[in-house]
Amino acid sequence: MRLIPYGKQYIDIKDKKIVLKALSNDLITTGPYVKRLENKLKKYLGCSYSYTCSSGTAAIHLAMMSLELKQDDVILMPAMNFISSYNMAKIMKLKIYLIDVDEYTGLITPDKIIECIKKYKLKNIKALIAMYQGGFPEHTTNFYNLKKKYKFSIIEDACHALGSEYKYKKKFWKVGSCKHSDICTFSMHPLKTITSGEGGIVTTNNPKIARNIELLRSHGILRNKKQYWNYDILKHGFNYRLSDINCALGLSQLKKINFFVRKRKKIYDKYLSEFKNFNSNLIIPKYSKEIKSANHLFIINILFNKINKTKDDFMKYLNTNKIMAQQHYIPIYKFSIFGKKFGKFKDTEKYFNNSVSIPIFVNLNIKDQSKIIKIIKKFFD
Ligand SMILES: Cc1ncc(COP(=O)(O)O)c(C=O)c1O
Repeated sequence: MRLIPYGKQYIDIKDKKIVLKALSNDLITTGPYVKRLENKLKKYLGCSYSYTCSSGTAAIHLAMMSLELKQDDVILMPAMNFISSYNMAKIMKLKIYLIDVDEYTGLITPDKIIECIKKYKLKNIKALIAMYQGGFPEHTTNFYNLKKKYKFSIIEDACHALGSEYKYKKKFWKVGSCKHSDICTFSMHPLKTITSGEGGIVTTNNPKIARNIELLRSHGILRNKKQYWNYDILKHGFNYRLSDINCALGLSQLKKINFFVRKRKKIYDKYLSEFKNFNSNLIIPKYSKEIKSANHLFIINILFNKINKTKDDFMKYLNTNKIMAQQHYIPIYKFSIFGKKFGKFKDTEKYFNNSVSIPIFVNLNIKDQSKIIKIIKKFFD
């Protein structure tokens, strides 16, 4: 019996052909595929500027750096997220405040942000990291209202949400359009909506931020247009470039994005119909009808306390049945590196205790999905 993973990339013959073609070009980095992918992303997302980079983490770092945040600047971010945003902020020596998340969705909410601001009596907040757990862009326009009130910048860590949309004024806007944020970042890691092997994307509509990103991505270099051999350094930057080989794969994947999102929605809908009214101790998070998710994850909440079982029992049980589930994520404050610095966050704790991500990926077939559903239901017998 083979193991059903919780996520997996979808690679077809067209992806393989374009990568081979990219390898035959004279330039295999800083070549034509980089620009081609960035232009297509701009069109798809509806933003003014789009840059590829080496990972989602690099994208977040570039976003923070492009805002010219300085040591001790205050930044808010979810207590439940992958460690990337925290690490990048820490490396920049920012003052980081964690926000509790909703107990079922794992998302920050406007109320939770205000709770955090009041609790720590925060003033002069420079930036908020919004993260769309599982691909669900909830509260986007409300975050924007808070931005106007508190005058902070918004960076969307939308690593789960390429292909997701939210409604504003009767129209759906893509996450990444930056209609209600300053900067948006995505990952093209193999498990994300599209992959370039490893890779990231940063988008913005702000020309100053865009120029900073472009410079910082490649050592702060400005090339002299009249002398091809000459260049200046305008900022201290990085090598966060993504190669043409990766961008060629990303371009081919982007062509399939509507198919990917449709397939994930189909899988999501089947899980939803099976689990919605199945058992009062299995709770599916509820989301607004004003959003369309790319369905990066399918999250279930099991009230393990009520059924006298533990999450570890559940994970082991699935594994014995050759199904792999995942934990998204370990709350940031729980890592040993922080000691007792942050204390605990009430609803993040509940979310951590109860939430599990079950398999969802483009090629998950009906037979395997039916098996997953059957095995999970049996756990409650
Ligand atoms: C929410 C979130 N942020 C950031 C990242 C980091 O992206 P990458 O792995 O491409 O650096 C990930 C990837 O796992 C993620 O899921």
